[in-house]
Amino acid sequence: MDNGVTVVDHPLVQHKLTIMRDKNTPTAQFRQLLREISQFLAYEATRDLALGTCDIETPLVSMQAPILDGKKPALISILRAGNGLLDGVLDLVPAARVGFVGLYRDEETLQPVQYYCKLPQNMDQRFTIVVDPMLATGNSSVAAIDLVKDQGAKEILFLCLLAAPEGIERMRTAHPDVPIVTAAIDEKLNELGYIMPGLGDAGDRMFGTA
Ligand code: URA
Repeated sequence: MDNGVTVVDHPLVQHKLTIMRDKNTPTAQFRQLLREISQFLAYEATRDLALGTCDIETPLVSMQAPILDGKKPALISILRAGNGLLDGVLDLVPAARVGFVGLYRDEETLQPVQYYCKLPQNMDQRFTIVVDPMLATGNSSVAAIDLVKDQGAKEILFLCLLAAPEGIERMRTAHPDVPIVTAAIDEKLNELGYIMPGLGDAGDRMFGTA
């Protein structure tokens, strides 16, 4: 981890990401690869989950064995593209509670405005992973994390597929306590706010709406 950012540079992740970036990759394959990469990202993001012990009997002997401790983690998707990461994370953490945050950009102020928010109960006791594939300007990520903090969340991690340096800087400034896990840090944002070289509009590519 460097400055709160972990890049999951596993060769399988990097290979799958290259296929996702290719503009000729069809929707179904894009979606499947996103699910697979999000499993690797979730593996990294959950590395510090608290463990307790429980008593079990193996076929041979009794033992005290490690088991996840505390409330189920919360997984918060920033609509709509965040939903593309949900299935892969839930493959690894099937008992996680899931919340959704919907934000749109006010065309005058250019600031994110909330239109939907449904979060799990007891956020103050849950390790919370906020997911959005593209950390671009960072405006919606910062606003979503503001919301989960308002609901009491204290231990939060942001998980994305690609990050722009501009978005990382914005997040580190606004929420220095929130580590970021990503598959790659790209070069920059273009004038339209797209990550370069990036992969285009992640929502359009995963839902086939381009
Ligand atoms: N959102 C996207 O889907 N793609 C980008 O490049 C930036 C933001």
